[in-house]
Amino acid sequence: MKVFKSSLICPLIFLVLFINFSLVFFTPSNDDHIKVNHVSVISSSSPQGKSPHELQLTSSINGSYNNATIQAWIKFGHGRKNMTSLERIEEGLAHARAMIQEAIRSKKYTITMKQSFVPKGSIYLNPHAFHQSHMEMVKRFKVWVYKEGEQPLVHDGPINNKYSIEGQFIDEMDTSNKSPFKATHPEQAHVFFIPFSVSKVIRYIYKPRRSRSDYDPHRLQVLVEDYVNIIANKYTYWNRSQGADHFLLSCHDWGPRVSYANPKLFKYFIRALCNANISEGFWPNRDVSIPQLNLPVGKLSPPNTSQHPNNRTILAFFAGGAHGKIRKKLLKQWKDKDKEVQVHEYLPKGQDYTKLMGLSKFCLCPSGHEVASPRVVEAIYAGCVPVIICDNYSLPFSDVLNWSQFSMEIPVDRIPEIKTILQSVTKAKYMVLYTNVKRVRKHFEINRPAKPFDLIHMVLHSVWLRRINFKLITTP
Ligand SMILES: *[C@@H]1O[C@H](CO)[C@@H](O)[C@H](O)[C@H]1NC(C)=O
Ligand SMILES: *[C@@H]1O[C@H](CO)[C@@H](O)[C@H](O)[C@H]1NC(C)=O
Ligand SMILES: *[C@@H]1O[C@H](CO)[C@@H](O)[C@H](O)[C@H]1NC(C)=O
Ligand SMILES: *[C@@H]1O[C@H](CO)[C@@H](O)[C@H](O)[C@H]1NC(C)=O
Ligand SMILES: *[C@@H]1O[C@H](CO)[C@@H](O)[C@H](O)[C@H]1NC(C)=O
Ligand SMILES: *[C@@H]1O[C@H](CO)[C@@H](O)[C@H](O)[C@H]1NC(C)=O
Ligand SMILES: *[C@@H]1O[C@H](CO)[C@@H](O)[C@H](O)[C@H]1NC(C)=O
Ligand SMILES: *[C@@H]1O[C@H](CO)[C@@H](O)[C@H](O)[C@H]1NC(C)=O
Repeated sequence: MKVFKSSLICPLIFLVLFINFSLVFFTPSNDDHIKVNHVSVISSSSPQGKSPHELQLTSSINGSYNNATIQAWIKFGHGRKNMTSLERIEEGLAHARAMIQEAIRSKKYTITMKQSFVPKGSIYLNPHAFHQSHMEMVKRFKVWVYKEGEQPLVHDGPINNKYSIEGQFIDEMDTSNKSPFKATHPEQAHVFFIPFSVSKVIRYIYKPRRSRSDYDPHRLQVLVEDYVNIIANKYTYWNRSQGADHFLLSCHDWGPRVSYANPKLFKYFIRALCNANISEGFWPNRDVSIPQLNLPVGKLSPPNTSQHPNNRTILAFFAGGAHGKIRKKLLKQWKDKDKEVQVHEYLPKGQDYTKLMGLSKFCLCPSGHEVASPRVVEAIYAGCVPVIICDNYSLPFSDVLNWSQFSMEIPVDRIPEIKTILQSVTKAKYMVLYTNVKRVRKHFEINRPAKPFDLIHMVLHSVWLRRINFKLITTP
């Protein structure tokens, strides 16, 4: 199935004849305190251990900066004239890395007059690094959105309900044309966005659905692969990085499947996914975990039902379907059995889901059919401490946020102990968690247009972090 037309003439192709691009990974230096890879803000907890860039490609450039080099960068900024656009981009990134390293070293914030928010406190793994990195991103990050393809298949997505982040992100970065991060020319771009919404594609091409076999992920995979082949043939950008500076964002259950049919093609490709299941091939150093949001029609958040802690009379709350093994276990153990641990499959008539969250100390967030659940964000909005009950879920923004400061994790096999575990949380510890939930809320809020440090900026920042972790070079 060919859906997109490819133009036959490729004006940029001759460039490839002279310039050979290759990917290089920055290795951390051992002898100074400055680590270039993953700028230390990023937890390097990849289950596979190594970053994708490290696995395949030989490192031919010495990525470790000494202090003098960093000081020089900070002092002089950009250097030579007659640079190619890629060299200019890489020089900007090198400068950003140096500034982040310096913020890590000096533990100082570079604060501009305009800034009203500065990340502080224990919810951040390294607030100085994050602050600087976010500022560098705002200053220079540019995303090229491919123009190929037409609505409704491309450049469109749902802006409400449980996959709303797909449509909100596409609208923000692509169709609304208002984002300051949107590149006006691909030569400016640090990363390239493939403007597909998996849930939109599924709604559009899987109709009519006459039989089970009509609902086959292969059709989605062919479509995405076809699109990538077109842009890779038409422009030089995909090939020069083997897709490592390209990304797609999806909240749909099938999001991860876009790359299954051709793992080689998508080896370095960044997938921003709600369904960040490490056992299913989610790779924390390459992919980006994004939160799932359930947006009511016409709204950017549910109503605010958050109560004062003294008014939170319910210890733990959950209401939802018996999807998947973990929820079945939870419901079997706790459904309608306990006043303090309120677990419902269906809410009793007259009860309000959002209100109950606002009246609860802890909100249980078990995996359903997939690891992610909109409950985590709903709980944060309601000031309810999320209790994550999942296996191998890579939590959103865990490159910069310390989740254990504003959530609890209860392993699946300790579901019977939920009540005793939560009862044993002291009042003081609970107040810390509660206060931190209110602090972290900002990073899970969606604004249109996006605002610094909000959810869309956090998603972009996650992509930015992956991009500053490698360098594209022109080899002579
Ligand atoms: C990196 O650069 C430093 C300082 O210039 C040098 O001492 C070191 O040998 C280099 N390392 C590699 C792997 O080239
Ligand atoms: C790097 O240089 C700055 C300014 O010269 C100095 O203040 C700082 O202590 C140096 N850092 C290290 C790790 O040597
Ligand atoms: C990128 O690589 C593919 C596969 O090797 C090739 O068919 C395509 O022509 C290349 N694209 C460009 C713009 O050279
Ligand atoms: C939500 O409501 C509570 C209580 O009315 C209030 O204290 C809090 O500031 C509100 N939160 C937001 C984000 O509006
Ligand atoms: C607790 O809830 C009651 C009834 O809704 C309200 O009148 C009271 O102001 C709340 N207390 C606090 C501390 O928010
Ligand atoms: C995560 O992936 C594994 C492996 O495919 C699967 O067994 C598990 O059910 C998935 N988790 C959820 C919650 O879907
Ligand atoms: C979690 O991932 C690890 C490593 O991939 C695997 O060994 C383990 O079985 C997974 N656990 C579950 C419950 O899927
Ligand atoms: C995250 O917070 C926990 C306490 O909740 C603390 O033990 C841990 O050291 C923190 N991690 C980092 C990297 O700061």
